[in-house]
Amino acid sequence: MKITTRLVKMTSLLPLTASFILLLATSSNAQEEDEFEGLAPGIGQEEVLIYCSACHSTRIVQQQGMKRSGWEETLEWMVEDQGMSEIDEPDLALILDYLSKHYNVDRPNFPGKK
Ligand code: HEC
Repeated sequence: MKITTRLVKMTSLLPLTASFILLLATSSNAQEEDEFEGLAPGIGQEEVLIYCSACHSTRIVQQQGMKRSGWEETLEWMVEDQGMSEIDEPDLALILDYLSKHYNVDRPNFPGKK
């Protein structure tokens, strides 16, 4: 008898608990995204934010999935046609390594994908 009553009480609380957890999860996510615009954590994250958010959101970067060669070409295109200053080493290698690791053709960090 007692057990049944407790069960009923717990079940009625469940939706509330679930939405509370969801709220916690989304607010901590939002904080991380603010700091690095949602860029995947890793070596080179800071450099990408600094160099690539000067003209556009890094979302435009995160939506892409390319191999290293593709990223190389994209950066050449940024320099030749979009007015980006050439990036010197060692930052260039850091950025290319970061992009081809976290934003490759398999798109492991495509925005919104979980
Ligand atoms: C000097 C300004 C400038 C900087 C700095 C810059 N970009 Fe861009 N980028 C542009 C412009 C302008 C466009 C839009 C070009 C268009 O769509 O015609 C663009 C577009 C892009 C695109 C979208 C390409 C597509 O097919 O839609 C990617 C990816 C990109 N940039 C990557 C980068 C990365 C990575 C960096 C940092 C290393 C960077 N950009 C830094 C100016 C810049």
